[in-house]
Amino acid sequence: FDSKKFQEDLISWFAEEKRDLPWRRTADPYQIWISEIMLQQTRVDTVIPYYKRFVEKFPTLNDLANAEEEVLLKQWEGLGYYSRARNLQAGVKEVAEKYNGIVPSTRKEISSLKGVGPYTAGAVLSIAYGVPEHAVDGNVMRVLSRILLVEEDIAKPKTRKTFEDAVMEIISHENPSFFNQGLMELGALICTPTSPKCLLCPVREQCGAFHEGRQHELPVKTKA
Ligand code: ADE
Repeated sequence: FDSKKFQEDLISWFAEEKRDLPWRRTADPYQIWISEIMLQQTRVDTVIPYYKRFVEKFPTLNDLANAEEEVLLKQWEGLGYYSRARNLQAGVKEVAEKYNGIVPSTRKEISSLKGVGPYTAGAVLSIAYGVPEHAVDGNVMRVLSRILLVEEDIAKPKTRKTFEDAVMEIISHENPSFFNQGLMELGALICTPTSPKCLLCPVREQCGAFHEGRQHELPVKTKA
């Protein structure tokens, strides 16, 4: 597997084809954090208007830290999973109090914040700070299971570690942000669950599943 070629093909494709999404127009770690929390259980099209209203209402980390919970939940209304909003505010308050309002830039520190799991940590670190860290969600597991022919069951909690380790082996150190976002975008636009558009895929030459014609067999996912 040629990581350098994979990085170049993925990053060039992302640079050309990425969707113009509102959270891709900011470099603010706080705003990127908000987007990643909203995107966890909610689709992109639904998130867009909520994200825009939310950052308009709470443009800075301090605005959200100081907001009344009632006002916060009003902004979140319709997105569901309200604990996400409460945890986000708790995390933001911790940053205001313990880190002088600066979202931390190490996995250890950012992961200590309320509501920030391994995926959110890696997404904010790589996208906002350019730190080469994994950001593995279900979509990224699907994409990488096909490219690398990983046959582990993605429904099993321990399988995520296999993919996190794989990302750390192949991630671009020049552009971790575009690398991780490229994997996400590939999962959203090309390497979709049921009808992957392999003929449009920028990395099909390096895709194990495409070579073996097994893209419909992967990922392996038990239950549900
Ligand atoms: N899903 C999760 N994170 C995303 C992002 N930054 N852009 C688009 N879709 C996403």
